[in-house]
Amino acid sequence: MLLEDNVLRSDWIVACKGEDVKEEPLQVTILGERIVFFRNEEGVHAFKDLCIHRGAALSLGCVKDGNLVCPYHGWEYNSAGTCTKIPQLPEGRSIPLKAKAIKYTCKEAYGFVWVNLNNNNPPFFDYSYYSDEHYRNVLWGPQEVNANPPRIVENFLDVGHLSFIHEGFLGVQEHPVIGDYDVHIEEGRIFTDEIAIFQPDPDGSGQSKDVFYTYEIIRPLTVLFTKRDPDTENKMTILLTILPVAECKSIAYGIMSFNYETGTTDEEIVAFQDMIFAQDKPIVENQKPEDLPLDLQVELSLKCDRMSIAYRQYLKKLGVTLGTD
Ligand code: FES
Ligand code: CO
Repeated sequence: MLLEDNVLRSDWIVACKGEDVKEEPLQVTILGERIVFFRNEEGVHAFKDLCIHRGAALSLGCVKDGNLVCPYHGWEYNSAGTCTKIPQLPEGRSIPLKAKAIKYTCKEAYGFVWVNLNNNNPPFFDYSYYSDEHYRNVLWGPQEVNANPPRIVENFLDVGHLSFIHEGFLGVQEHPVIGDYDVHIEEGRIFTDEIAIFQPDPDGSGQSKDVFYTYEIIRPLTVLFTKRDPDTENKMTILLTILPVAECKSIAYGIMSFNYETGTTDEEIVAFQDMIFAQDKPIVENQKPEDLPLDLQVELSLKCDRMSIAYRQYLKKLGVTLGTD
């Protein structure tokens, strides 16, 4: 089912890691639509994964001389989506003007490929840590989740669950109370104060203490988290971004950035994040209603849920319809 969410279609949506698009074309389902990504000398390109001739999936074809070749009858499409060759045409016959692929705007940034389905080319968000030499960046994902995209984002912004779902890692059950914090909206930025979170062993020394969390909403499906250790000024940020596959199917990706030496490999960092995410997964896959209620009367919020309330209000104001009630 095609999901005509105009807000998301007008945004940049993560499709895959840059390294996933190699010589072979790659199919990714975004908002219920099959999209083919392929790479040539000019970079990465995205088309609707559909040949206008007989509806074959172009992703089953190959890239030849920089053109995407349909697997069924060999029509060739250049980077602009224009058909440049139809093998069956008798000599002297020109290619019909309608022989085109449907092209989508896409770009590579921060290690990922992003697509803009409405071709309106909106401003891209800034994630400065990615090019900051003081930070080490580790890409995370894909993680498939059978839940609607905003539910996953909200789970990421939820501070109250840390001492329960992630007990022993990101919190302890003896310290469930979340310190008071506010959500600020300044010049379009939506972010929290620093929130003190008591953790059993935040720096690997075996010592329990408070660390400070902040959250920021960047885009409807892209949010930022920062953890700061007050003793060392060590900072870790996670940019979470969700690929909306369907109303109740998502793929989570992230960038984890560290301004300190973690003493762990990229694989170990990813494995830890996978483990934490696996703790959240059964929760978000079983929440009812599946869609995130944007009517604030539907669920019962506490003061510490302020950031998720701000997120719901933000989606409502933007008019996001996918996976929201
Ligand atoms: Fe693509 Fe025929 S379906 S060339
Ligand atoms: Co969690």
